[in-house]
Amino acid sequence: MTTESAIRVQGIEKSFKDLHVLRGVDFDVTPGSIFALLGSNGAGKTTLVRILSTLLKADAGSATVHGFDVAGQPADVRESISLTGQFAAVDEVLTGRENLVLIAKLRHLKNPGAIADDLLARFSLTEAGNRKASTYSGGMRRRLDIAMSLIGNPPIIFLDEPTTGLDPQARIEVWQTVKGLAEGGTSVLLTTQYLDEAEQLADRIAILHKGTIIRNGTLAELKQLLPAAKVEYVEKQPSLEEVFLALVGDTGDTDAADDDRTAGSVPAGKEQR
Ligand SMILES: Nc1ncnc2c1ncn2[C@@H]1O[C@H](COP(=O)(O)OP(=O)(O)OP(=O)(O)O)[C@@H](O)[C@H]1O
Ligand SMILES: [Mg+2]
Repeated sequence: MTTESAIRVQGIEKSFKDLHVLRGVDFDVTPGSIFALLGSNGAGKTTLVRILSTLLKADAGSATVHGFDVAGQPADVRESISLTGQFAAVDEVLTGRENLVLIAKLRHLKNPGAIADDLLARFSLTEAGNRKASTYSGGMRRRLDIAMSLIGNPPIIFLDEPTTGLDPQARIEVWQTVKGLAEGGTSVLLTTQYLDEAEQLADRIAILHKGTIIRNGTLAELKQLLPAAKVEYVEKQPSLEEVFLALVGDTGDTDAADDDRTAGSVPAGKEQR
């Protein structure tokens, strides 16, 4: 199992009537790594995730997940994965804790209450645990959604656009969660339209475009595809995201914003090259 890929995708094709969405997709995900699938709206990211999670059948090609064939051994695949969909699967009427207990019971696990409390603590939701999920912010709901998908400790998780619609702080919280999962040995396949998300998180990045993977590599490898960086002297303004996070109190890394401000020693408006 150790030398095998967590996920292996070979020649996967899928059409919806005349729309040929996936035209032969190939890639491998190393166990314990974070693999980001990048693509524009409609590129076929969700379609691929649905095939890998056995919700949809491919027209051609093959894929294994945790060593199991998605077409031939769907029950084994389902035992090995969790899927956090593009839209949160939280039950709004229940409290956060009740949502977690429900899933633990559905998975026939012992001590569902203890499992729920442990996950609430890990996702900084202990205080909110007894409130209805309908009162949660988007970021809290997303964290609860991911927490629910971790019940039963699946070795492989699929996250379909985990941070779409979240504010920058909530995105950073989700990123920290995902990094922690991979550090614990979980293999993560995430889809995103956010290039910075892939930069922050992914060990490898694949770009899905017009039905195939047009590039697949580490961030460093992808950056080498463009001409080497030129040395230019330009006043560096902090990005709006850095300003926002500095003003509202970032939970993550604020050093970058500070460095940028001290570096901007050229009078405003005078750009030198
Ligand atoms: N069940 C379906 N029936 C018909 N067409 C579909 C179906 N599912 C997806 N499609 C089409 O397939 C294409 C790929 O859709 P998909 O949802 O996989 O894209 P995506 O990369 O996840 O996009 P987004 O970033 O918007 O989530 C789209 O053109 C979509 O309209
Ligand atoms: Mg999608």
